[in-house]
Amino acid sequence: MVLKIAADDDNVNQVVVVREYDEERDKLAVEELESRCEVGQKGKPSLVADLMGDPICRVRHFSTHIMLVAECGEEKEIVGLVRGCVKDVTRGNSVYVKMAYILGLRVSPTHRRLGIGTKLVQKLEQWCKLMGAEYAYMATDCTNEPSINLFTKKCDYIKFRTPTMLVQPVHAHYKPIGWKRTAIVRVPPQLAEVMYRRVFASSEFFPKDIDAILGSKLNLGTFMAIPKMYLPKWDPRESLFPPSFAIMSVWNTKEVFKLQVKGVSMLTYACCVGSRVVDAWLPWLRLPSFPDVFRKFGVYFMYGLHMEGKHGSYLMKCLCNFAHNMGRDDEGCGAVVAEVGQRDPVREVVPHWRKFSVAEDLWCIKKFRDAKQLGESSETSEPSDWIRSRSSSSVIFVDPRDF
Ligand SMILES: CC(C)(COP(=O)(O)OP(=O)(O)OC[C@H]1O[C@@H](n2cnc3c(N)ncnc32)[C@H](O)[C@@H]1OP(=O)(O)O)[C@@H](O)C(=O)NCCC(=O)NCCS
Repeated sequence: MVLKIAADDDNVNQVVVVREYDEERDKLAVEELESRCEVGQKGKPSLVADLMGDPICRVRHFSTHIMLVAECGEEKEIVGLVRGCVKDVTRGNSVYVKMAYILGLRVSPTHRRLGIGTKLVQKLEQWCKLMGAEYAYMATDCTNEPSINLFTKKCDYIKFRTPTMLVQPVHAHYKPIGWKRTAIVRVPPQLAEVMYRRVFASSEFFPKDIDAILGSKLNLGTFMAIPKMYLPKWDPRESLFPPSFAIMSVWNTKEVFKLQVKGVSMLTYACCVGSRVVDAWLPWLRLPSFPDVFRKFGVYFMYGLHMEGKHGSYLMKCLCNFAHNMGRDDEGCGAVVAEVGQRDPVREVVPHWRKFSVAEDLWCIKKFRDAKQLGESSETSEPSDWIRSRSSSSVIFVDPRDF
């Protein structure tokens, strides 16, 4: 994907040029910049991502993607970057729209408040429009004031959805599955695709290329939990669901990036280490000892979570425990994570540690307007405008590639 962006000619940053990332030329400088741009509040513990020598990895799995860098001065120092992709997603009621997703915006701490972040977003939006995008969205921590201000005050985004990120550290002990009553079946990707297209048709943000996600090597599988009593009568090929079931898929982000917790107090650190020591000595106590998140760790992302029937909640818990145990068997996996809509019934069921979870991950959205629409008043804008209308579904499908 190639995009030529002309050198900037406005007076904000005459010496800053925004252009497409060139792996051979920019990789080292981008990695260095990324390492200097921690996301989070000053003085508080932060999560640092290691992109494992592949700065474009966060968008590589989208068929239409780009990464832009901002270059400054005669030395052409890289002082900012942003990634983006365009995909087709549902906006509820089975209607698909072309959606841009903007992520990984970073500006060097030495060059902030000069308009570089805004310029990167604007240039990326130009590319997104060229790719046919009708909307763009971004996600950020609701405490990230610089980012929220940049998008809402300078780039006309509005606060849109606040899904919850549920985090469960993986610890030394296996979690119970309820094997006596419950069967967990691995669903082949083609069948999972059929099921997901049915179940998530009226949700928001369900990606049209779900087949690409399910077929990716990062997808560790789709699993269905069913009460054993229904199993003999259930034939998945008939595409009828059993009366009670839960379904989810697991995505291995460990191959894309690793995370590390930095900036905790010595006391917190000592408590975490202590819990592991006690657990190793007295394993029969089955303490939920704290995994070593101060070294780099990977995450399993649980997505496509859906449950039905009177045993649905129980079956979903079994599936979450199953995913936890998969992570337990993988030495590099430190946590299992799910992100779901505020009103999604699944939210109440997924086991998580509240302290590590994010109650409100903020998603902001913008509708790109063409010249014709710009001339229209707000009253005459399309009545079915996604941004203005109330959400038609409580379910948000969180694409594992967005995580
Ligand atoms: C967020 C970030 C990219 C902003 O980059 P930047 O080049 O400084 O942004 P701009 O100069 O274009 O600022 C545009 C607007 O954003 C807002 N803004 C930027 N920094 C801010 C701050 N520290 N506090 C409050 N508002 C801020 C302001 O409204 C600003 O306009 P103004 O300068 O006219 O008041 C940068 O702070 C950064 O890299 N932060 C760490 C990584 C991060 O959080 N990325 C966002 C992840 S979604």
